[in-house]
Amino acid sequence: MAYLRFDGRVAIITGAGGGLGRSHALELARRGAHVLVNDLGGALDGSGSSMSAADRVVDEITSFGGVAVSNHDSVATSDGGQAIVQAALDAFGRVDVLVNNAGILRDKAFHKMDHTMIDSVIDVHLKGALYVSQPALALMREQRYGRIINTSSASGLFGNFGQANYGAAKAGLAGLTRVLSIEGASHGIKVNAIAPIASTRMTQDILGDLAVKVSPESVSPLVAYLAHEECSVTGHIYSVAGGRVARIFVAETRGVVLSENTAEAVRDNLSRIDELDAEGYHHPSSLDDETTIIAQALLNVS
Ligand SMILES: NC(=O)c1ccc[n+]([C@@H]2O[C@H](COP(=O)([O-])OP(=O)(O)OC[C@H]3O[C@@H](n4cnc5c(N)ncnc54)[C@H](O)[C@@H]3O)[C@@H](O)[C@H]2O)c1
Repeated sequence: MAYLRFDGRVAIITGAGGGLGRSHALELARRGAHVLVNDLGGALDGSGSSMSAADRVVDEITSFGGVAVSNHDSVATSDGGQAIVQAALDAFGRVDVLVNNAGILRDKAFHKMDHTMIDSVIDVHLKGALYVSQPALALMREQRYGRIINTSSASGLFGNFGQANYGAAKAGLAGLTRVLSIEGASHGIKVNAIAPIASTRMTQDILGDLAVKVSPESVSPLVAYLAHEECSVTGHIYSVAGGRVARIFVAETRGVVLSENTAEAVRDNLSRIDELDAEGYHHPSSLDDETTIIAQALLNVS
């Protein structure tokens, strides 16, 4: 099997000054990509900034003969998103791959969370991905080729105490992935998401014995595949940690068409509505597909 190379390809990795983003940047650069290493260089809670994090990763890449430039704009504003994509264009003339990875944490039980904790986390994770993806997608549409990888999280897809802001943003990224995969399909653009677990400054206090098994480097091979021309999937979300990769998908039960549509009928049929019956699952590929499934259920009943 041919080794997956990125010669002639240009990748933007946001938040690549450390942790997972640094690992993705090194992986793609080793495989020949020209990499824009973006990082604001702030603390885990988003405070402060420093150019050194991104610059250090660029030094690492150039030390093994790779090609990279740094960028220190924030993903969290529309101007920042434009500037990041423009920096890649200025340095390398095109953009083939975007990995939306930048992130911060402001955890607190929801009833104690103030609005700055909500705004800052939504701004970096969710709006950040929108703001960088939009100018990148415009270029990808023109060249009729592109790969976008969003970084979601089990926190938003499955739920986690103390992360209402973060979980909501990360679930939003799953929705963004689905929508952009549909919009990009006719232009050679594939958009997928990962929900990683890795030992970084974000998780250093919570992983316990698992920490040694789940290096950031163990996540990057999946990102490299999803970023490659040979990637055959779009709109998918993958759980990835320590070399284990699994698909996460949104499914719905077979459902029940209520003969009498009342609150009491919902109560009386809830166990059938909720029933997890593997044979009867639907996993709609789009809103259109979901509408077709509903139409079939309703039209079959009448
Ligand atoms: N580590 C895990 O187990 C885990 C689990 C699920 C999701 N994630 C996600 O993976 C991504 C990477 O996280 P990590 O664990 O490597 O943590 P990290 O803190 O090491 O990396 C995040 C990087 O993003 C940068 N950043 C923050 N705000 C930015 C902004 N406005 N503009 C540009 N860069 C900014 C930070 O400076 C930092 O270098 C995040 O989106 C995180 O939510 C991580």
